[in-house]
Amino acid sequence: MSNPPASNPSAKPEITGWGDFSTPVFSSRYPQPGLLNTELKKFILAQESEGEKYRNPEYIPSNQVRIFESSFDLFKDPNRAIQELKMFFLHGIVHAVTATNGYSIEECDRLKVITDAWYHLTHFGGYISSHTHPNASWSAVYMVDPGEQAAAMPKGGVLNFKDPRTNANMYRDPGNENWKKPHHVGSINYEMRPGDLLVFPSFVQHEVTPYFGTSARITVAANCSFRWQDQP
Ligand SMILES: [Fe+2]
Repeated sequence: MSNPPASNPSAKPEITGWGDFSTPVFSSRYPQPGLLNTELKKFILAQESEGEKYRNPEYIPSNQVRIFESSFDLFKDPNRAIQELKMFFLHGIVHAVTATNGYSIEECDRLKVITDAWYHLTHFGGYISSHTHPNASWSAVYMVDPGEQAAAMPKGGVLNFKDPRTNANMYRDPGNENWKKPHHVGSINYEMRPGDLLVFPSFVQHEVTPYFGTSARITVAANCSFRWQDQP
């Protein structure tokens, strides 16, 4: 490719680039998550064993197959591991909010966070179809236990994010087909390890691919909306 003609060939015009319309996604990892995850797993499996008592009564069967979804008040439970996990979620989510909005510490202190939180147990053949989380600005997922990968069906139970830029893939050629992050076009698989937290804007479409492990895949998720303390 030849350079475009210039009236002054020796001049090198300054070029500035932005990440306009990029989508902020943050990840964190709980330090040495083994003990916390053991406690979380014990708590979650005990609740599931009680039948419908802790199941979200409003879950949508067409969106979720072979998944036990808890009610959305998980972070109100006084269990030590749940409260520890709640603080880890809030740490990651508040970081995302301050980093993307540029809020000062004083502004951060004025924020009121409204949080729904729940867990998912995904069993053999389970999946969650593509969805967003309305009425929230930030969502987050924590991996307690990714379960097992079936040798014949790898990449099961993977969190898959869709590119939120409508029509970003309408024409692909060498001019744009190798865009690097954060400009990347197409869906992204996040293969989360135990202890990983992913924080993302609630408008991003995402799904969990069919899971074919024999033990349960276990995640905790949260949706957050925000108000200023001094506003209704
Ligand atoms: Fe979700």
